[in-house]
Amino acid sequence: MTSARQPTNGHPTNATAAAWWRDAVIYECHLPSFRDGNGDGIGDLEGLTASLDYLASTLGIDAIWTGPFYRSPLLDQGFDVSDYYEVEPTFGSMATFDRLLSEAHRRGLRILVDYIPNHTSDAHPWFVESRSARASARRDWYVWRDPGPEGGVPNNWTSEAGGSVWEWDEQTGQYYLHSHLAEQPDLNLRCPEALEAMLDVLRFWLGRGADGVRIDVAHMLMKDPDFRDNPVAPSGNDNAYDLQHPDFGTQLHVHDRRHRDTHDVLARIRAVADEFPDRVTIAEIEAMSWEDWATYYGGGALDGMHLPFPFRLLETPWRADTLRSELEGLYSALPRGAWPITALGNHDRVRLASRLGAQQARVAAVLLLTIAATPCLLYGDELGMVDQPVPLERQRDYFARSTGGVTRDPTRTPMPWNDGANAGFSTAAEPDLWLPVAANAAARNVEAQLRDPESSLSLYRSLLRTRSSSPALRGGELAFVGETGDPDVLAYERRAGHHRVLVALNLTADPAHVRVPASGSVLVTTGRRTDSSLVGGEDLRLQADEAIVIDLETGATT
Ligand code: NOJ
Ligand code: CA
Repeated sequence: MTSARQPTNGHPTNATAAAWWRDAVIYECHLPSFRDGNGDGIGDLEGLTASLDYLASTLGIDAIWTGPFYRSPLLDQGFDVSDYYEVEPTFGSMATFDRLLSEAHRRGLRILVDYIPNHTSDAHPWFVESRSARASARRDWYVWRDPGPEGGVPNNWTSEAGGSVWEWDEQTGQYYLHSHLAEQPDLNLRCPEALEAMLDVLRFWLGRGADGVRIDVAHMLMKDPDFRDNPVAPSGNDNAYDLQHPDFGTQLHVHDRRHRDTHDVLARIRAVADEFPDRVTIAEIEAMSWEDWATYYGGGALDGMHLPFPFRLLETPWRADTLRSELEGLYSALPRGAWPITALGNHDRVRLASRLGAQQARVAAVLLLTIAATPCLLYGDELGMVDQPVPLERQRDYFARSTGGVTRDPTRTPMPWNDGANAGFSTAAEPDLWLPVAANAAARNVEAQLRDPESSLSLYRSLLRTRSSSPALRGGELAFVGETGDPDVLAYERRAGHHRVLVALNLTADPAHVRVPASGSVLVTTGRRTDSSLVGGEDLRLQADEAIVIDLETGATT
């Protein structure tokens, strides 16, 4: 395995090995949907390995977040683990994982795996033993409670998948806690043996050579030890982009997650990661205030997570004023010495191009790849993939099986590689595919978009190349342009030494005229410009839906 960063695509980098993740671009590859290597209809490690040249050279990303591939009944696409030390045969074997690692590292790509410490599958032997008897040696590894004072569930907590978090166990006469599906019992990480067992899982995968982990629901690891009721929400969950069961939004989730002891567990996780050189810890945490988000970095010593996800950005209305105030909130809360990660798409959310439309999804790509943060792209967003309705009988997401449940499958349809059968995703018969391929895959696929210089893929490639060769875009400071004179335009400058890059985003389908001096050369535009140099003046005219990246003339000689 590599410890020092290897050159990627010959692009220069100034990252030190220890902070390689500060200027990396991460790609979320959703394993069952990415590429099928063995023809059974389901994406796997072999298919991912076969796609490494696309990721490293054609696209030009630096690190892959794989999605879970551990032994699992696959009721929650692998976030329901029944053996953390085995590769799910649907996805491959330990040998195919090792091959993925060595082939990725040979190309200078890093591999980030999922770490799922909050819950297991109910088929995990730990849970089978825990539920076998009240006196079981592993009883305390999960959260068991007697019925509430009036009988029935111990408290009012609602699950992300709908209904109560409590499931009655007839045999032992107690309830167990499941923050998600009933088939995903929560571990009791207050039990030292359970916590140690989960830390050993982390040691195993980092020791095997994974370059880091994406930690599932890191904010949930500790709950109120007194199991107090959650307060009722003043209004329901009205976030149209967060695909949660309506039951979930009926209360304020203050006691079933984010207990202050969560930070102690995360510090333990971080300490294990620090046993290995140059590993990164990325925490999935829900949207919260910027002040609370910042606490996930740890104290002044930054001994918590390297990169807590800022989910607020995924939920921010697509307007210049809201985006700017959220980004200002993020940067002003960012602890000294810390660095952010960001994403605008995710396997749990509506696809970017469905949320914003095709043209503004291109503007979003420019934002994502030019702000001061480590970008994380969702597979297929580089093609402008949209949500694809999936008929009930083909759905895989068990979160939708409860009454009123919402399926996340439309976001997760197979990556379209070409215009062949099943869009090149798999050689299996269509009914055997993990999910149906998108209806527009014959036109919107990797091969077709590579031929089209105006495609979404060509835009992403160009942005990634530009970013990779620009010290200002990779690690430079970010300063917003005070007043653009147009409320629909967001503009900011990135600076590193004498390198200065201006980014201006027109967030509407009307042309815009802003008072921003911009002399220099156009590095990237989502519009159509015949002249790549901009000369002088106090004005910048933007086309409809245009996002532009300009290398500002500074007069400095290099
Ligand atoms: C967060 C994951 O992103 C989501 O897909 C999953 O269903 C839950 N955690 C439970 O593991
Ligand atoms: Ca397969």
